[in-house]
Amino acid sequence: MIYVLNGPNLGRLGTREPEVYGSTSYADLVRLCAQTAERLSLKVEVRQTDAEFEMLRWLHDAADESAHVVLNPGAWTHYNIAIRDACAMLRGKLIEVHISNVHQREDFRHKSVISGVATGVIIGLGVDGYRLALEHLAQVGV
Ligand code: DQA
Repeated sequence: MIYVLNGPNLGRLGTREPEVYGSTSYADLVRLCAQTAERLSLKVEVRQTDAEFEMLRWLHDAADESAHVVLNPGAWTHYNIAIRDACAMLRGKLIEVHISNVHQREDFRHKSVISGVATGVIIGLGVDGYRLALEHLAQVGV
């Protein structure tokens, strides 16, 4: 199983700062991941939460299942050590995805506390980053 987990405010995709995040809605993102999963014969579940405790529980479950995770931690990326610690427990691969190029934005977005425990990071390629993450996991044969 691959969990595609999205943190705070990502449920607002489509209407949220479209000049930064594009016009693809969260529902479109879920569809894109489902279509990619079907094409690649992967089992994928896509989720979004604004609640830290819920994300932590999903990461703990993924660790227990040795599942792979594609994670867009949203703003938690930049400061949330509890989310990082949960990511460090994962036994499957962890691909960190950011829709926008955080390095072209405010200084506080340049640092990720997650990247140090991620397998790899995809930044700035829009929602296509999720497809690429799934393509990679299929390619390495998860
Ligand atoms: C984001 C970048 C973060 O800085 C921001 O807080 C988000 C989305 C991205 O996908 O580009 O919520 O992770």
